[in-house]
Amino acid sequence: MSEGAPPSERLDSVVILDRRGTKRFISLTGDMVTVPGLGVFACETLRSALGRVVRVGASTVLVLRPSVRDLRETMDREAQALTHKDLAAILYGIDIAPGARVLEAGAGSGTLTTVLARAVGPTGRVHSYDLRGDFLDVARANAERSAASSSIEFVQRDVRAGISEHDLDAVVLDIPDPWNAIAAAWQALRPCGHLAAFSPNMEQVKETVAAIRALPFVDTRTVELIEREMEVRDIGVRPSAAALGHTGYLTFARKVLDPFP
Ligand SMILES: C[S@@+](CC[C@H](N)C(=O)[O-])C[C@H]1O[C@@H](n2cnc3c(N)ncnc32)[C@H](O)[C@@H]1O
Repeated sequence: MSEGAPPSERLDSVVILDRRGTKRFISLTGDMVTVPGLGVFACETLRSALGRVVRVGASTVLVLRPSVRDLRETMDREAQALTHKDLAAILYGIDIAPGARVLEAGAGSGTLTTVLARAVGPTGRVHSYDLRGDFLDVARANAERSAASSSIEFVQRDVRAGISEHDLDAVVLDIPDPWNAIAAAWQALRPCGHLAAFSPNMEQVKETVAAIRALPFVDTRTVELIEREMEVRDIGVRPSAAALGHTGYLTFARKVLDPFP
């Protein structure tokens, strides 16, 4: 059975996986592509080999359709990027759905931007603010690797100075002082819209929750997610020694119009 792309879809990128588990993101522009350390591939060969082994010289690699996990693992990083567990929890916590309109700050390396854009789809919109133009350039380049970049608008702006968009379904803050943007987020959210803030330190959480409690928000909660990967081997199954340690705390809340009397 052929596992290639559907006839209507012309893949403009693939990920290749080698035996050591290293992934490389490959843009399929033109007829041939050079992969450093491996050799030259015909783009059409890679497009038609999804899920299959391709041989080049003495090497064999598997060809994969890029997932958001692949994109994150192979992207250029300028700022500290959110990790898989926190990315997944944010999507659930802000009740993301196709067509949603979301504001995030800051864009950083564009990790969350890309995940949000894939979730809101072509009918949704992700507005992504960052203070720094150089970070926005990296975020833009990373987002362009995904098929979802047309749903993203990058803006160089301080989110603490206000949010231009209104009636947003969600606002996600990954900045050092989210508490200074909570009032702007409340203004920009639609009633019942969702807020998420990521912070590495408890002190940041305390200030953020205090700012949330000063406004009509409900369902306020802060969580830390711990992920333990398992090593599944013939001689035994046990947690990996390379544990993913602390990343940060996630605070969620939901805008309402009236506080409880
Ligand atoms: C930790 S990084 C965000 C990483 C991003 N969430 C990701 O997963 O790739 C924090 C970013 O916030 C930006 N930033 C800090 N304060 C900001 C503000 N007040 N408004 C907009 N961006 C801000 C920084 O320039 C930096 O790029």
